[in-house]
Amino acid sequence: MEQLVASWHNGRSLPETYVLPLEIRPGKLYVPVSTNIIPVVDLGGHDETAIIQQILEASQEFGFFQVINHGVPSNLIDEAMNVFKEFHAMSAKDKAIQCSNDLNKNCFLYTSSHRYATEKYHFWRDSLTHFCHPLEKQIQFWPEKPTRYRNVVSKYTTEVSKLGSTILELISKGLGVSPEHFSNGLTENPKMIVNHYPPCPDPTLTLGVPKHRDPVLINILLQEEDLYGLQVFKDEEWIDVEPIPHAFVVNIGYVLQIISNGKLKGAEHRVVTNSNSARTTASFFVNPSDETLIEPAKVLVNASSPALYRSLPYKDFHSKFLVTSADWKELEKFVRTTSA
Ligand code: OGA
Ligand code: NI
Repeated sequence: MEQLVASWHNGRSLPETYVLPLEIRPGKLYVPVSTNIIPVVDLGGHDETAIIQQILEASQEFGFFQVINHGVPSNLIDEAMNVFKEFHAMSAKDKAIQCSNDLNKNCFLYTSSHRYATEKYHFWRDSLTHFCHPLEKQIQFWPEKPTRYRNVVSKYTTEVSKLGSTILELISKGLGVSPEHFSNGLTENPKMIVNHYPPCPDPTLTLGVPKHRDPVLINILLQEEDLYGLQVFKDEEWIDVEPIPHAFVVNIGYVLQIISNGKLKGAEHRVVTNSNSARTTASFFVNPSDETLIEPAKVLVNASSPALYRSLPYKDFHSKFLVTSADWKELEKFVRTTSA
C-alpha cells in the first residue's frame, strides 16, 4: 500500500509531490469568520412545510445545509467520532491488516485519491471506506480493531441511514416526487468514508481533497468540533462550513442533480488542511446499487422541462466519475442527453 500520510508526516516539510499547481492551490487561508452562511435546518420543528422550504432553498442556493435536532443521539455521535479517530491513530501495520488496499473490495484503505498511482500530485488525506448495507453481510468486512468499531459504527450507520431517508423524503416532497422514489435501488448501497487529514506543514500549498462533487444522492458528513476544513464553492468564492457540535453537514450530490433534472445542484466543495491539529471526518454517502438506473424522475420531465440527462446504470456513471475525477465538465458531457 502507498504510504499513508499519517505514517510519515511527523517532522517532515511538505514533499514536492504534494505542492499543487497555482490554479488549485488554496494560497492564503483566511481565518474563518464565525458567522455561519450555510443554512442550519432544525429538523425538530413541527412545521414540515417550512422545513421542506428551507431544505429546498439551501439545496438550490448552496447545495449544502446543516441539520440539528436530527434524532441521532449525541453520545452515539461522540462514540463514533472517537472510534474513527482511534482507527486512524493505529499503526500503519495494524490499519493495513484491517482492510484491503484493493478499491474493488468491500472495505479498503487508501491515501490521497483513488488514482494515487497515476495522479500528478497527491492530496493530504488518508481514507477508510466500507459499505454498510445490508449490515449482516457487510459488517464482516469492517475493521475488527479498534475492538468496538463494528459495534459502534453499526449503530451509527443505522441511525444516519434513517436520517438520510428522512431528508430524502423531505426533498422528495419539495420536488413533487413520490417518496418511494428513493426507497429502492437508489439508496441501496450506502458507503462510509472515514477521512483523516493529519496536521500539514504548509496548508497554503496543498489540499486534503481538491474541488469535487460527490457521486451520490446526498452526503451526510460528521465533522469534529472546532476544526474547520470543508469549503463550499459559490459565486467564485470559497465559503467555510462552520463545525457545529453534533450537527450534520448535508450536501447534494451529482446523482440527485440528475434525478431532480437539474433542479438541485451537486455542490462543489474541497477540503483544506491545517497545521495545528489532525482532523477526522465521516462521510455517509447515500448511494445507489450498481445496476440501478439513474435518470431524471419522470414527473419532473415534460415538454417545457425536457430531460437534461440520459438514463444509465449507476456503475457506468461511477466508473466515468472515477476516470474524469476533477474534470466535472467531462462527466457532464457523458451524462447529458445529446438534445439538451
Ligand atoms: C468527501 C468530502 C469533506 C470533509 O468525503 O467527499 O467532501 O470535510 N469530505 O472531509
Ligand atoms: Ni465530498
